[in-house]
Amino acid sequence: MRFIRNSQCGPVSLGDDRAFSFHSSLDGYQPTPLHQCQLDHLHFWAKDERVRMGLPAFKILGASYAVFRKLQSQGLPEGCSSFPEMAAWLQAPRPQLVTATDGNHGRAVAAVARWLGLQAHVFVPEGTADQRIDAISSEGAQVHVAPGNYEIAVQWASQRVSDHVWLIQDTAFEGYTQIPQWIAEGYSTMVAETRDQLGHRTPELIAVQVGVGTLAQAVVQLAAKYWPDARILGVEPERAPCLYASIQAGTRVQVDTKHTSMTGLNCGLLSANAWSTLRDGLHGSMLINEVEAERASRSMISMGLPTGASGVAGVAALQRIQNEFPDWLGTTNLVFLTESINESDEFKDL
Ligand SMILES: Cc1ncc(COP(=O)(O)O)c(C=O)c1O
Repeated sequence: MRFIRNSQCGPVSLGDDRAFSFHSSLDGYQPTPLHQCQLDHLHFWAKDERVRMGLPAFKILGASYAVFRKLQSQGLPEGCSSFPEMAAWLQAPRPQLVTATDGNHGRAVAAVARWLGLQAHVFVPEGTADQRIDAISSEGAQVHVAPGNYEIAVQWASQRVSDHVWLIQDTAFEGYTQIPQWIAEGYSTMVAETRDQLGHRTPELIAVQVGVGTLAQAVVQLAAKYWPDARILGVEPERAPCLYASIQAGTRVQVDTKHTSMTGLNCGLLSANAWSTLRDGLHGSMLINEVEAERASRSMISMGLPTGASGVAGVAALQRIQNEFPDWLGTTNLVFLTESINESDEFKDL
């Protein structure tokens, strides 16, 4: 079936939109567009994160907010919230930023480091496409290829940590929860903007893609505040089903992953912070395969909104729902186009 209705749903802690004030105070801030889309008889709204703060994915929302909060925790004065002000405040010994990534998050951390005049080290899994490595290096970061998958890259990055080397990771694990929490709060800016853009409309169905689950955590927590009646569906590649397996098992489990075109979603273990929120707040978990992702990608190209494979996963889910579970569709359905298309997202392994 590749679809589980979650019978364990319950209350979740409500998100807050403080990061929205931070992001909207930044120089050059622009909310990303919300498009009203139609594909045959399927109607939905697509929050377009293909360009966010000059980068090709939503991830910069989390990295920028988490580094801001980390600096505040180190004494950054109240009211000092632009990147030039933060850069001027930082004194020697200046920290380095380190992270692990499937692509987009690492580039975002590298960009924040560049804005602050800091060195960044970014660990990527073996087999990461050259274009993704080049994109991270183009921000001035040093890229290191870890000898294994995403989880190994996270371990390698975390071994670098010291007083002056800060891990800015988007997944939580034992003893490391604060930064991923701030990253989730940073992502909530896109949900806050969507609420303003939808106005009186209330989404009945939200399909959100899941890698380590931090994005979905942000969506679930803020939707609980804005749209408590919305049904929320977590969407993953069939080849990296860590949420699906965890919901099935009733506990967070690690799964083996295989290569998928949805690179950003290729994670074998959910964030420790995200799991309980997703267990309680998601109404279903859906797996999509490479063919479905490719079809969704072609659909978005036909609409003039070319989107990377991880970015169209929510659209692929709506297309499946329309065919197989139409009672799940509402009048207002919402997805997030989380990244722009790049050459390494060719669907060549079908
Ligand atoms: C384009 C894109 N969409 C969605 C996600 C999923 O976010 P998360 O890992 O927080 O679940 C990622 C993660 O890297 C991504 O790169």
